[in-house]
Amino acid sequence: MATVTIKAEEAKQLVIQKLQEAGLNDQHAKKIAEVLVHADLRNVNSHGVLRTEHYINRLKAGGINPDANITFQSTGPVTGIVDGDDGFGHVVADIAIDHAIEMAKSSGVGMVTAMNSSHCGALSYFVQKAAEEKLIGIAMTHTDKIVVPFGGKTQFLGTNPIAYGVPAKTKQPFILDMATSNVALGKILQAREEGKEIPEGWAVDENGAPVTDPNKVASLTPFGGPKGYGLAVIVDIFSGLLAGAAFGPHIGKMYDDLDKKRKLGHYFCAINPAFFTDPDVFLEQMDRMMEELQQVPPAPGFERVYVPGEIEQLHEARNLEQGITIASSVYEFLTKKVQ
Ligand SMILES: NC(=O)c1ccc[n+]([C@@H]2O[C@H](COP(=O)([O-])OP(=O)(O)OC[C@H]3O[C@@H](n4cnc5c(N)ncnc54)[C@H](O)[C@@H]3O)[C@@H](O)[C@H]2O)c1
Repeated sequence: MATVTIKAEEAKQLVIQKLQEAGLNDQHAKKIAEVLVHADLRNVNSHGVLRTEHYINRLKAGGINPDANITFQSTGPVTGIVDGDDGFGHVVADIAIDHAIEMAKSSGVGMVTAMNSSHCGALSYFVQKAAEEKLIGIAMTHTDKIVVPFGGKTQFLGTNPIAYGVPAKTKQPFILDMATSNVALGKILQAREEGKEIPEGWAVDENGAPVTDPNKVASLTPFGGPKGYGLAVIVDIFSGLLAGAAFGPHIGKMYDDLDKKRKLGHYFCAINPAFFTDPDVFLEQMDRMMEELQQVPPAPGFERVYVPGEIEQLHEARNLEQGITIASSVYEFLTKKVQ
């Protein structure tokens, strides 16, 4: 696949310009660009600027509100609800995690659900924000059905990711950000874009049989059999039902019905370690735990043990210097002048 490497700042500006041309206000366009480029910097390209074209198609078709008036309603000392007004999920999620962070700072914990939202991108962005404030962040979002339930032939659940961000004293935060499917749908889309095969076990065809051709993928599989399946349902409960949104097969489609508002839900939580233990000791122990994990001798075939989030952080450090690498077709779209 032909690729182009550009500086993160250039990518951001291109995305902002495209979104503005499509009728989005500056503030929302900037936030979306930041979340997308965050993903590309971490080599999570499946959730990076590659998605801009789809978002613009949905925006133009009427499936996203370009003038969303996103509001927060406090529902208790440490709880609240964000109403996304059918705007961009990245902006809705950002506002929701900010409210959770503020409550956790003053009251120890903050929990916020978001409703009337849309695709919010890579969850790592939001839990990292909490970790940067020396808080623990948790995020979940449901998505439309593509994953078979364990033992089932037809799809019911989304790739329903869950993410945790935990701060440390001197080291970068622990960031576990994972779809509850074996892989995120974006990785299948990326393999299609790149003309590559996918490993066996990632997906099944319309008969429920394993496939390696990304073009034959009908459904994805949950990771870890019944465990990943159970977690995917939990994500649908927290980010869907608790947010007053739909579940599984009733969730608005990402790549169909572009003219319809998706009405997605998200769940965010921030926890202040200082309300539970000595915060300095907690942060030192996080450093120590991660160091000791990294020192575990590697098994045959492994270079070393990484902590969750570390590989992406290494990519980010390098890509900040050298630039992010995206498909040439994506770059062409981003740089194409409006007729
Ligand atoms: N918004 C949505 O609707 C949606 C839906 C699905 C996925 N996503 C996003 O897709 C992205 C990719 O998800 P994914 O499940 O494909 O991620 P992944 O499988 O690449 O990584 C999952 C986690 O495992 C960790 N990890 C990977 N290799 C490791 C190793 N060797 N040692 C230690 N830790 C390791 C990573 O740091 C990460 O925290 C995430 O950002 C997720 O939020 C978003």
